[in-house]
Amino acid sequence: MTASVSPEKEGLKNILADRVALVTGSGRGIGKAIATVLAQHGAKIVISDINVETSDATAEEMVKAGFQAVSCPANVTNTESIDKMVESAMEKFGQIDILVNNAGITRDNLLLKMSEEHWQAVIDTNLTSAFKVTQPIVKIMSKQRYGRIINIASTTGVHGNFGQCNYAAAKAGLIGFTKTVALEYAKRNITCNAVAPGFIDTDMTKALGEKIINSFVEKIPAGRMGTPDDIARAVLFFAGLGDYVTGTVMEVNGGLYT
Ligand SMILES: NC(=O)c1ccc[n+]([C@@H]2O[C@H](COP(=O)([O-])OP(=O)(O)OC[C@H]3O[C@@H](n4cnc5c(N)ncnc54)[C@H](O)[C@@H]3O)[C@@H](O)[C@H]2O)c1
Repeated sequence: MTASVSPEKEGLKNILADRVALVTGSGRGIGKAIATVLAQHGAKIVISDINVETSDATAEEMVKAGFQAVSCPANVTNTESIDKMVESAMEKFGQIDILVNNAGITRDNLLLKMSEEHWQAVIDTNLTSAFKVTQPIVKIMSKQRYGRIINIASTTGVHGNFGQCNYAAAKAGLIGFTKTVALEYAKRNITCNAVAPGFIDTDMTKALGEKIINSFVEKIPAGRMGTPDDIARAVLFFAGLGDYVTGTVMEVNGGLYT
């Protein structure tokens, strides 16, 4: 049987033509790389970040590069803000086919030193946000009978990590959420998958400082940190090629399973 997308015949360049993708936390880092790679493969892009400046600047940059993009800034912990984001995105493009729940923060500390405030902030931003953002968008996708939801989890959510009990709990929760949304919406042609990055070179990890970064890199079989593009290409697979793949977690970690 012939595959519906043949790289030889059609090329992968436009596999997302006529698709609209909304990426949360896409003002910088992994989210920005995901938005760029999806745009390079034909998608129209909704850039959204709590930081209005980086959200607007990223969308502007993409438009200048010849892509169709709009900035709809939002705080993913705030329902009102999310509703406005979805409304603006629908006004602009009339559909949302791909949702990437990428916005996230870390507030690291050992369990005994972890404040309730930092626990809650990480759960709200990394986990509850996915529930709040996905709920209105899955409604739209259900009507369209088409949707690709990709949640950016973490290897920490699969294996745990020293000093990250809040983050590990949030990302593990996000994986459970992913598997359940996959079950509930499979019949509507909506897939839901997670990408679990390992140690990726962004502002989030730069904050750890050179000494800690080097000690992590030493343990990575691939011998280097991941790049935001490494994650974006995994997202591209779920967004454009993995029609029969749902409820799964792809670890993108250079071989580091700890
Ligand atoms: N960098 C890594 O090594 C790594 C590893 C595993 C998972 N991740 C995950 O990848 C995702 C992106 O991380 P990154 O490294 O690019 O981080 P980053 O800090 O560079 O970017 C995160 C973006 O999310 C935005 N954001 C934060 N809170 C928000 C909110 N409430 N509403 C909307 N936007 C908000 C920030 O403004 C920022 O632009 C996160 O979910 C993170 O947990 C990163």
